[in-house]
Formats: sequence, C-alpha cells, structure tokens
Amino acid sequence: MKSALLQNYSRYPVEFVEGKGSKLYDKNGKEYLDFLSGIAVTGFGHQHNEISKAANEQLHKLWHVSNLFESTPQEELAAKLTTSTGMDSVFFCNSGTEANEAAIKFARKWGGDRNTIIATNGSFHGRTMGSLSATGQSTLWNGFTPMLPGFTFVDFNNLEQIKSSIDENTCAIMVEPIQGESGVIVPDENYLIGLRNICDDNNLLLILDEVQTGIGRTGNLFAHQYFNIIPDILTSAKGLANGLPLGATICSEKVSNVIKPGDHGSTFGGNPIAVAAANKVIDLLSVQQLKLIKNSGKQIIELISNIDNSLILSTRGKGLMIGVEFEKPIAKTIAKALLNKGLIVGNSGDMVLRLLPPFIITNEDIQYFVKIFTFVLEKVSFSSGSSDIVNIN
Ligand SMILES: Cc1ncc(COP(=O)(O)O)c(C=O)c1O
Repeated sequence: MKSALLQNYSRYPVEFVEGKGSKLYDKNGKEYLDFLSGIAVTGFGHQHNEISKAANEQLHKLWHVSNLFESTPQEELAAKLTTSTGMDSVFFCNSGTEANEAAIKFARKWGGDRNTIIATNGSFHGRTMGSLSATGQSTLWNGFTPMLPGFTFVDFNNLEQIKSSIDENTCAIMVEPIQGESGVIVPDENYLIGLRNICDDNNLLLILDEVQTGIGRTGNLFAHQYFNIIPDILTSAKGLANGLPLGATICSEKVSNVIKPGDHGSTFGGNPIAVAAANKVIDLLSVQQLKLIKNSGKQIIELISNIDNSLILSTRGKGLMIGVEFEKPIAKTIAKALLNKGLIVGNSGDMVLRLLPPFIITNEDIQYFVKIFTFVLEKVSFSSGSSDIVNIN
C-alpha cells in the first residue's frame, strides 16, 4: 500500500513499538540494543522511572497554557540552566532548529546595524530557513534557495580564517563545539577558547549550538564547559526533555537586555509536560552521572580502537558522542548489518558510523556491542557486496 506519509525520510523497514532502558522492541517482538538514542535524544533511555513519573504527574495536572501567563516549572528549569552555565535568561521553544532561529534573531537584534554571522563549513543547525542558512552544507540548500543573507562561511577548526572574515557587518560567530551531523568532528583543544577571545577582541557574540553536544552527551552538562568559557548565546534541545519536544535558547545578560516583549515567541514553547521531564533530566545529570558518561565513552573508544581491523581509520569523540571512520564508504551498509543483528547505530554519510548510546548503558551492553561490531567488520572484510553484508548471519 502506498504510504500517506511525505517521503522526506528514507526509513528502515523496522517499526519499534516499545522501549525499556537501553532496549527497543519491534512489532515482531525482536529486541534491539539502542546505540543511537533517537539521535542523541533519549539520554536516560526509554521509560525512565523518574522522568516518566515527572511527565505523568504533569500530564494529569495541566497540559498547556499560553506563555502569556506565569509558569513556575519554566522558571525552575530556566534557573537550573542559567545557574549551571553562568548565563542570564532562557527562551523556550520546541526543537533545535527553533532554538537556533531564536539565536539568529537575538544576535541580529543585539548587532543593530551589524547583521552578519560567521558560521562554519560542514555545520548543521537545522532545517528551517534561518538555521538552514547558517548550515554550511550547500547540498542541503539544493532546491530551497535563496538562503537568507547575512551568513559567511569559514572552515571549522580554523581560527585564522575567522579572523580574516570579520568585517564591519559581523555581529556573531556561530559553531557547534563538536560537529555532529558532519561526522563527529572534534576541533583542537584551543578552538573554543580561541573563538571566545576573538569575539571579545572584536565585540562579537559567541553563539554555541549545543543541540547535540549538550545535556550530558559529551560528559559535561554542556561541551564548552570543558574549556571554562561562557558563550553569549547557547542553544539546546534533543536530550533536554529525554524525548519530549523542548528547545532552549540561553542568553547572556547583554543579549537578554536587548530583547523586549513581542520580539519573539512560541505557542507551544516550554510546554509544561516537556518542562517537567526536563527539570528531572537536569537533576539526574549529577557529577557522578557525568563521570559515568565520560568513563563509558572512554571504554567504548578504547575497545573499538583495539579492534584489529584495517577497515577502521579512526575512532573519535567525547563522552557518549562517538564516530568511527572507515577507510572506505561502508558506514551505511554496516549500520544496516548491525540493525539486522539487533544493534541500532547511526551514520554520517558513507564514511562515519555514529554511536550515541544512552547514558544508562551497562558494561555488559558495551561488551555486547563491541563483540557484534567486531564480528560484522570481520564478515565485511571477506564479503563481496553490500547485500551479503547486510544479511550477515
Ligand atoms: C547541532 C544541531 N543543531 C540543530 C539541530 C536541529 O535540531 P532539530 O532537529 O530538533 O530541529 C541538530 C539536529 O540534528 C543538530 O545536531
């Protein structure tokens, strides 16, 4: 039967109907180990007791009121986000792309006559027109041009190019601390500190898109906290409410000061149920939990690095945001083969496999993943074509 869904995704022919912890179950009852977390979303796994309880309590109290009225749960979450980042105020929306749209608008308002934002090649900031215009992947623009004016692109991890791109119209620099969709590209240790200094020296805003790297994913609440810097605008979404739609644009005081009632808004942004879940998510990201994320990530990278298979070029990442780069374009085929064997992973193009497991994975889950991954790689080394590989037994 022809699907009535718009065909804007290429979907795997698998339907999950239930999740529990790090496991997902398809409609035939087959169990899968989730090493993707809905693309860095369900950090605390599926049906987490405390998060479900918080959302469920709110579900039975109040679903929605307009942002024209006060909200204690929003105030609480905003206070947690500003206190833990040293920032000033929060705008709530529903997704990563919306958080970045707000960031772009706020930067333009702050910039006044200066309205150009420097962004990076290979970046991903979302699919709506503003965020897409900031996204440095022209293949994603095809068919949708013209992009919004006011964006200049430089290479990621190149401070010199940024310096030479600044002109009298520049108001901000916008980057991901680790490029996620482009294949888990980790910049040099001095990159974010260098960006902070460039922004300070030139009176520019530093906008960090932590939609993917934030909320514990890299082993800190936010990835930039490894470098002791504070951005001027910080965007968050994905893991914030562990699967309920919620985005946040966190502002420093100088940005907060230029935004006035009526400048921006959202009907659904900061929905009470999503906010109740997020308040619990932030509480659960204790120092101990973050340490566990760092350790599990190190363990996975070490175990994969020790696999003796020449198909692997490099294994990189921070915390539980990991990319495995291959020496030939087999990432999609490997992801499909792993899915057949009950392991869910992602890929960035054909060269990089992406691992974004939930924070609650056990040592046993990790050992199991590495065992199956090693087995699949061995089979691939000896197979003749991609259909053999996908159907490995
Ligand atoms: C860094 C980054 N920014 C923005 C987005 C867009 O988020 P959303 O899909 O919630 O709009 C993503 C999604 O992958 C992302 O990885």
